[in-house]
Amino acid sequence: MNLADLNKVAQAMVAPGKGILAADESSGTIKKRFDAISVESTEDNRRDYREMLFRSKDAMTKYISGVILYDETIWQKAKDGTPLVKLIEQAGAIPGIKVDEGTQALPGCPGELITVGLDKLAERLKKYYEQGARFAKWRAVIDIGQGIPSYTAVRTNAHALARYAALCQAAQIVPIVEPEVLMDGDHSIDRCYEVTEFVLKETFQELYYQKVALEGMILKPNMAISGKKAKDRANVQQVAEKTVKLLKECVPAAVPGVAFLSGGQSDEEATAHLDAMNKIGGLPWNLTFSYGRALQAAPQKAWAGKVGNLNAGQQAFTHRAHMNSLASKGEWKADLEKKAA
Ligand code: 13P
Repeated sequence: MNLADLNKVAQAMVAPGKGILAADESSGTIKKRFDAISVESTEDNRRDYREMLFRSKDAMTKYISGVILYDETIWQKAKDGTPLVKLIEQAGAIPGIKVDEGTQALPGCPGELITVGLDKLAERLKKYYEQGARFAKWRAVIDIGQGIPSYTAVRTNAHALARYAALCQAAQIVPIVEPEVLMDGDHSIDRCYEVTEFVLKETFQELYYQKVALEGMILKPNMAISGKKAKDRANVQQVAEKTVKLLKECVPAAVPGVAFLSGGQSDEEATAHLDAMNKIGGLPWNLTFSYGRALQAAPQKAWAGKVGNLNAGQQAFTHRAHMNSLASKGEWKADLEKKAA
């Protein structure tokens, strides 16, 4: 492992004004997204859609530091035969790869999940590195509900995240460590805070046990946020203040950056929250975005599977990437959204 090089990649992933495009929807998830815009989820349509994003020159060169790909995409070629990975590199962004293989029921823990994919991961990482991947992602899913999460689920997922992260660093790939506490349900922001604190503390403990170098990783957490169905949802300032406090309690300063997931927040909510945190400022890590839905919902709607809408799709993507870039510097203003509409 060359830690100086891992650190260089990690720093580039969270460079000021830049963030990560999570375009690593599994086949099942992208089908759901395409169903919503009445587009058939064929290999070609998935390629055309992602090619549209990666060819959005302004977004990719100015606002996007890296792209998380799904296994299918990292091997795909654009219509003109250029590998999609090359398109990303040509824009000056870094290709990354989702390496977990989804979730399974965790035995003995009804309603809870464990992320799988550690078997043969070392061999897969080697191939992904040869294909151009310089960072990877593994997502653990923690649900809040009656009597859950259990210690078993939190501990087991933290252990898997740390095993994954250690294997990545040994393969000279920067691990994005993503322990996601879901915002489904009607829980309060304080309950989310309490669970996320537990999850982050366990995760960093396991990272230490597995000898993961913090300088060579990126954390991708959820924000401290009310459940989607909660009655009195916390406002933007409360989310920002509680999330900043939470990170200060749990995340060592040696971690180069924190790149949030959007987790089902609306586009503008996700931007406003990131912006408010960066307006507080004074933090040891760069805070940026690694959004999937909050970057892609708008371009998916504008594109709707039609060649004639490619420009509109690229404009919608560029706008969201621009807004989130400003938010990553604490320079976003709500009226910038109206001007673009
Ligand atoms: P969302 O921003 O849609 O939550 O997706 C990010 C991601 O990579 C989830 O694993």
